[in-house]
Formats: sequence, structure tokens, C-alpha cells
Amino acid sequence: MSASAVSLVPLSTQLRERTRAAHERAETVPFITDLMHGRLDRAAYADLAAQQHGIYLALETSGATFRGVPRAEGLLHDELVRTPSIEADLGYLYGPRWAERIDVLPAAREYADRIGDTRGDLPRYAAHAYTRYLGDLSGGQAVKRLVQRHYGLGEAGTTFYTFTGIARPPVFKNHYRARLDQLGLSPPEVATAVAEAMLSFELATALFVALGERHAA
Ligand code: HEM
Repeated sequence: MSASAVSLVPLSTQLRERTRAAHERAETVPFITDLMHGRLDRAAYADLAAQQHGIYLALETSGATFRGVPRAEGLLHDELVRTPSIEADLGYLYGPRWAERIDVLPAAREYADRIGDTRGDLPRYAAHAYTRYLGDLSGGQAVKRLVQRHYGLGEAGTTFYTFTGIARPPVFKNHYRARLDQLGLSPPEVATAVAEAMLSFELATALFVALGERHAA
């Protein structure tokens, strides 16, 4: 396909198509398949939640820099914000002094730092927001059910996966994809966003690999 034909493909389609292989790599890291098959323990799940804190804090701090920026506002949804629910989950899983008890991996810091660099950079922020939020609204919903079943958890400890303001995730995901397509990114910006989304998946995968080194089945 020529470069001009590629630029006509909507951003959301390019993101999905171009990250398909990276998605497969992410969801088949042994840490993830072991977690979802009940071969790990609650501490492994808690550690995953712990690593996600800095990542979402960076994502949502970056998101806040786009408040009042007309072309970006379509991506900002209060019902997506995850940092408070991660903090509630960590309070449940590690106790009130969770912030002193969690042990953040270098791979999680690297991911959070990369997201932190997207402040004010819409194509790259959009890439990370897409990767995280659409993932949480997709596979994240299966993760929630399996983690609850295998590790004896209820809603407490897994509120990260509960989007109280989103009744039907598939409908919301379509809406979010439309908002991505309406950002009006130029062809070079689309290319930047797609490359950043691929990197976002790679950073997520590296984090799962590092978690697997800490929590072997
Ligand atoms: C735990 C393992 C995972 C499973 C079982 C899983 C499963 C799925 C499924 C079934 C979909 C399709 C949903 C639909 O068509 O509406 C999906 C979409 C998605 N997942 Fe995952 N996933 C996993 C891990 C991840 C990870 C680690 C990420 C990112 C870091 C991620 C990001 C995404 C994104 C961005 C989409 C939306 C694709 C699109 O329609 O554009 N997923 N996932």
C-alpha cells in the first residue's frame, strides 16, 4: 500500500491492525497465562496491581495536560480514570501503608517514564491511552473474572477492572475509537501514534516478563 493510501486508513484501524502481533505477544507471556489459569498466587496479582500504579498515574497526569485543548478533549473521560481504583485495590491488598510496601520494578518505571514524556504530546498520549484503556475494557474484563475466581477475591482488590460509569464496554470502545479518528491527526502524527502504541505494548510485555521472573508458576 502506498504511503498516501495508509494515511486514509482511520487511526483506530491502524492502531488495531499494527499492534495485533504485539498484542498476541503481550497476552501470551507466561506470567499472564499463568495468572489467568490460577497457577500463581494472590501476591503475584497484587504485584501486578502495584506495578500499574505509576503507569496510570503517569497516564492520567499526562491526560490532565490536555484539559481545555479542544482537539484532545474527546479522549478525556472521567469514567476511565484508574489511579483512585488502583490505590483502593492496593490498600486492600497491601494494607494502608501500601506505598511503603510495594516494590516497583525497573520495567514499570521505564513504562511510566515513557508515558510521563507524553505530556502535551497528543499523538503519543493517544497511543498510550488507547493501549491501556481499550485493553482494560477488553481482556481486562476476562482478567478480572479469572483473578477473582482463582485467588479468592471479590470486588475489593479488583476495582481497577470495574468501570462504574461504563455500562457496556463494547459500546464505549466504539465511541472511543470514533474519538480517536476525530482527533484530526496529520499523517505524520498518525505514524507517531502507531509507533508509540507498538512501543506501549512492548513496554507492557517487558513488564510481564519481569513480573514472571519474580513470580514463577
Ligand atoms: C490478559 C491477557 C489479554 C487478553 C485475554 C486480551 C484479550 C483481548 C480481546 C479478546 C480483545 C478484543 C476485544 C474486542 O474486540 O472488543 C482485546 C482488545 C484489546 N486489547 Fe487485549 N488482551 C489481553 C492483554 C492485553 C494487554 C496486555 C494489552 C495492552 C497492554 C491489551 C490491549 C488491548 C487493546 C488496546 C485492545 C483493543 C483493540 C482494538 O480493538 O483496537 N490487551 N484484548
